[in-house]
Amino acid sequence: MKWDHVIRNGYIVTTDRIYQGHIYVKDGKIAAISDQPLPGEAVEETDAAGRYILPGLIDVHVHSRDPGSTHKEDFYHSTQAAAAGGITTIFEMPNTNPPLNNVANYHKQVSNLETKAHVDFGIWAICLGHLNMQDIAELHRAGVIGFKFFWGYAVHSKTYQLIYNYKPEMEDVIPPFTDGEVYEIFREVAKTGQILAIHAESSDLIHHLTKQVEASGRRDYEAFLEGRPNLAEVVTVQTGIAFAKATGARLHILHVSTGEAVDLIKQAQAEGYPITAETCPHYLFLSNEDYPKIGPAMKVYPTVKYRADQDRLWEGIREGVISVACSDHAPHTEEEKAGDLWSIPAGMCGVETLAPLLLNAVHEQKLTLSQVVALLSENPAKLFGIYPQKGSLQVGTDADITIVDMERPFTIKQEELHSKSKVTAFDRFSGMGSPVATIVRGRTVMRDGKIVAGPTGRLVTPADVV
Ligand code: DOR
Ligand code: ZN
Repeated sequence: MKWDHVIRNGYIVTTDRIYQGHIYVKDGKIAAISDQPLPGEAVEETDAAGRYILPGLIDVHVHSRDPGSTHKEDFYHSTQAAAAGGITTIFEMPNTNPPLNNVANYHKQVSNLETKAHVDFGIWAICLGHLNMQDIAELHRAGVIGFKFFWGYAVHSKTYQLIYNYKPEMEDVIPPFTDGEVYEIFREVAKTGQILAIHAESSDLIHHLTKQVEASGRRDYEAFLEGRPNLAEVVTVQTGIAFAKATGARLHILHVSTGEAVDLIKQAQAEGYPITAETCPHYLFLSNEDYPKIGPAMKVYPTVKYRADQDRLWEGIREGVISVACSDHAPHTEEEKAGDLWSIPAGMCGVETLAPLLLNAVHEQKLTLSQVVALLSENPAKLFGIYPQKGSLQVGTDADITIVDMERPFTIKQEELHSKSKVTAFDRFSGMGSPVATIVRGRTVMRDGKIVAGPTGRLVTPADVV
């Protein structure tokens, strides 16, 4: 046998055990896993002695802004950043320009992203209420990875771009959708059986409270949080769960930032509803207490909240209430992020730092390596219908592999990130545990931090539409 790639001597990590073995790759698939060396030559050999072999990591929440705002980021750079950070598959968010709101734009997006992808990718579709209700079923059949609804966002009436700091007096704007319309979205997506993911913040509440805080003249982070408080997430999660119960939608709560939301989701799960949740490193490792040190780089929506929320999010992970970790990679340029906290855009880089930060959490004994595999590989693959092709190390599945060195220290340096815009709240953060190789369908894309392959990433679609 002539193998395409053999990865020898590593510790293979699954969600329930770690064992030593060799992985044999042929035609992009895992052809054998063996504790004894198998005969045959290999085109490429990787010695993983002393290292851990994880099923390729997946980041389900990436805004590469391509097309539309490619001065901030593009798919070429975001997928290099992903590969550099040990990620083998990303799911691209639909708030592009044009948005991913119909099948014509989906097909255009597939062609656009294919030419730039250094890792494999799925594509989210956007829900725009009455503006694309008739497109939902067709988008599902076309192969989108899930449906996203930016609850509480107004959209531009011509371009359908999201309005980040909406004021009712704005022109050419479709105000945030009413509850009735949102309920229709839930009904329509429920018919497809695919995930409906929501950005859960009440714009109404935020608008009202922010006006009050602004009137007080306070401009500090605590004031900012009073304008976008825990309650803004709580009321939307609550309504979302009620709508999911009523419609049967498979609701996924994006970037959970509050302890209260964890409690609500836990209760709905205990009642047997298919409701899931994700969170991101900035909610797990940062709190309001970090703002004086970090500053505006840490502005994201939903906002980074309090230490008590951070603790409850960790507990939610340990309880299995939160089953997915992701980056919400949302770059803006340094100039855009440099202004006043209240007016700058929300979002930061994350796809490259997601895995190192979670590996460091293993060192800090907040997680086990098997839990990292669950949060970043197996759970997302299962949730979005691409398991076991992705998210597993089994014979016959895609040879997507992330090799990590748990003894390798790292320091995140903003200027060294592969993204086009390089703003991160984790600049100069040091930790332990680094991805040292990213292998996509058998081909090494990153080795020792360097990108060593061109863009050969492919589209991934949920199993039921393949
Ligand atoms: O902080 C954020 N940035 N939150 C979002 O929901 C959108 C994102 C972006 O696209 O910039
Ligand atoms: Zn996002």
